[in-house]
Amino acid sequence: MISRLKGTDDILPPDSAKWRVLLRAFGSLAERFGYDLALLPVIEPTELFSRGVGEATEIVEKQMFTFEDRGGRSVTLRPELTAGMVRAFLASGAQGTLKLAAGGPMFRYEQPQKGRRRQFYQVDLEYLGEESPEADIEIIEVCYRLLEEVGIEGITLKLNSIGDPSDRAGYRSILQEYLRGRKGDLSKDARDRTESNPLRVLDSKADADIVADAPVPLDHIGESAQEHFDAVRAGLETLGITFEVDPRLVRGLDYYNRTVFELFSPAFEAAQSALGGGGRYDPLAVAIGASREVAAVGAAMGCDRIVEAMPAPGGDRLDLFVTVAEPNLRGQARLWISRLRRDGIRVDWDPTPGRSLRGQFKAADRSGAAAVAVVGEEWEVGQVTVRRLATGEEARVAVEEVGAWSTSR
Ligand code: HAM
Repeated sequence: MISRLKGTDDILPPDSAKWRVLLRAFGSLAERFGYDLALLPVIEPTELFSRGVGEATEIVEKQMFTFEDRGGRSVTLRPELTAGMVRAFLASGAQGTLKLAAGGPMFRYEQPQKGRRRQFYQVDLEYLGEESPEADIEIIEVCYRLLEEVGIEGITLKLNSIGDPSDRAGYRSILQEYLRGRKGDLSKDARDRTESNPLRVLDSKADADIVADAPVPLDHIGESAQEHFDAVRAGLETLGITFEVDPRLVRGLDYYNRTVFELFSPAFEAAQSALGGGGRYDPLAVAIGASREVAAVGAAMGCDRIVEAMPAPGGDRLDLFVTVAEPNLRGQARLWISRLRRDGIRVDWDPTPGRSLRGQFKAADRSGAAAVAVVGEEWEVGQVTVRRLATGEEARVAVEEVGAWSTSR
């Protein structure tokens, strides 16, 4: 037997039932908030990420699945979607704003554990071409509602502003100076990062004591970033979305400016890992070679983690299981089942010809259906016998009414 690669999963029933609920909720929310679907390549030029996500990030330094294709080009399995979304937006020549929803597998070479996979799934939203704080508020709201709608409890939203790139240059040297002064007490990683990417030290768990007293970006942001942040906060408040400002929240990707956020739930407790996160990334387009800045904000939610935190969906798997008592009625039963399915009823039956009625009832029990119908003698007079499996309640119902009967629970 060949086994799957470390850090990858086979997502099968019964677990996949939660995935279906999650992906449906995402699709529905995206539509309700006016986000159109985007389907992007899983494989991209390596440069898209080294320039987009940032050379000095953990993702680009250590986690990418990068290889040379047969034509000698360096290609990478996408570790995230945002850089690709901006690339696609620019390539399409679209003007104005575009609201896009996407999702699918991402790849990061991580040390696998619960909620930290090498192939994992994100659902992603990007609001492109909009600088108003309304876009930030909306993106955060969709993420929050997604978690609410799939039944996640105790949602915590952490929010911060890291200001604009011009604010950051000044802040970076202030932080660097502070960290250099404490060099002897820093972990090796933090010492290296002090020079290459000092902001990342702020979320270093190993250096929590030193970080606790470090200067934070929020105290060094410019006036217009501050106004923007105030508007985002006020907007969230009017929507009843509670948040904590976390001045040490910086995110692991380099393209952000202004708003950054992450969502958590105690139902997924592994290593304080976020169920999702995002922020504003106005500098990204230029970083990947655009001639103009594209104001944008977005978020990605980690499906593997959300599913861990979600309650199992209740309810039945099927509305109806059809059994056939008279073998010569199989053809008519098939046509009837086909009609029910086209009418939106969830129906299944036993495909094995000649299986005893008892055998078919066993299959009905295993199927997770709410009710079973017997196509038998009464078919002649346009009726079937139906039975609700939970209560044993039995009735004879006209064939054309079974659909309504089976969904009227
Ligand atoms: P990110 O924080 O790197 O952001 O990933 C978003 C979410 O993906 C995380 O909060 C987590 O739930 C999930 N995730 C990340 N890595 C793994 C992993 N190895 N295994 C399982 N789940 C994981 C981004 O990717 C940005 N592109 C978000 C964004 C969109 N910003 C603006 N637009």
